[in-house]
Parts: sequence; C-alpha cells; structure tokens
Amino acid sequence: MYITYIYEEATMPQPLAPETIAIIKATAPALQQHGLAITTRMYARLFEDPAMKVLFDQAAQSSGEQPKRLAGAILAFARNVDNLAVLSGAIEGIAARHVAARIKPEHYPAVAAALLPAIADVLGEAATPEVLEAWGQAYWFLAEVLIGREREIYAGG
Ligand code: HEM
Repeated sequence: MYITYIYEEATMPQPLAPETIAIIKATAPALQQHGLAITTRMYARLFEDPAMKVLFDQAAQSSGEQPKRLAGAILAFARNVDNLAVLSGAIEGIAARHVAARIKPEHYPAVAAALLPAIADVLGEAATPEVLEAWGQAYWFLAEVLIGREREIYAGG
C-alpha cells in the first residue's frame, strides 16, 4: 500500500476528482460526435501561431493525416481518464511519436489554448464554466502523463 502510494506519487499526476470525471464522461459523447468540428476549429486556432504550424509540418512526413487525429485522441483519452491502464499502450505510442516530432513540455499550453475554446464553440450553451474546467483538468492530466513519459524517453529510457 505504502509502496504503491510512493510509486504513483512519483510517476503520475494528481488523480482527477470524481466530480470532474463525472462531467467528462457525461459530455465526452457529445464532443466525440462532433470530433471533426472540434478538430477543424482547434487546428485553425493552433496554426495561427507559425511556430506551431512548422512543428506539425515537419512532423507530418510519414502521413499528413496524423495531426488531425490529435483532437480526437484527446477526447477519446479523456473518456478513460479514470482507467489509465486501458491507455498505457496508446500513451507509449503517442509519447514515442511526440519524441520523434521533438514535442516539448512548452508546446502543451498552445494545444490546450486551441482545444478548450474549440470545445466551448461546439458545446455552445452546454459549455458551462464547470464543464470547461473539467475538460481543462482532463487535458492537463493527460498532458502530464505524456510529458512525464516523454521526459523519460528523451533521457534515454
Ligand atoms: C494531451 C495532449 C496530447 C494528446 C492526447 C496527443 C495525442 C496524439 C496522438 C494520438 C498522435 C498520433 C500518434 C501516432 O500516430 O501513433 C499524436 C501525434 C502528434 N502530436 Fe500529439 N497529443 C497531445 C499533445 C500534443 C502537443 C502539445 C503537440 C505539439 C504542439 C503535439 C503534436 C503532435 C505531433 C506533431 C504529432 C505527430 C504528427 C505526425 O507526425 O504526423 N501533440 N498526438
């Protein structure tokens, strides 16, 4: 019990509150249903910053379609924020892909700043402050998991 606690403390971000998870689960289906609209809005915002656009252009050597999966993946993963074991394989693959694309922790705020307004646009009136707060927390939870794993890979592991 004690060892488990130490391990999680060292490798995982703070777990999300049950109320946050409940909001995410309640709103995730609506967001996933409108995944294309969210993706379109998110990338329009993200690519207003040339530094972001270059990052994706350089990375999209193997397939130009890959970046379009980012928003959809964030939505899908957020649905499983309370069951990270399900996501471990996917997280490993994304972290490896991010490292290949030289993604760094400082890139994460721009994606949050593009994704959350896109969610607000798509949800409309349903995007209450509580809903947006919950999605912001879910994004950063996932981001911290990825950043942590990417840091390990950059360090050689
Ligand atoms: C919680 C946050 C994020 C999630 C869940 C996520 C998810 C994903 C997924 C699912 C892929 C495709 C992986 C594959 O093909 O195997 C991907 C690739 C990629 N992501 Fe992320 N991502 C996140 C944050 C970011 C950030 C902050 C950036 C940089 C601004 C970024 C840039 C990229 C790039 C450049 C690729 C590769 C695209 C390509 O080479 O075609 N991602 N990400």
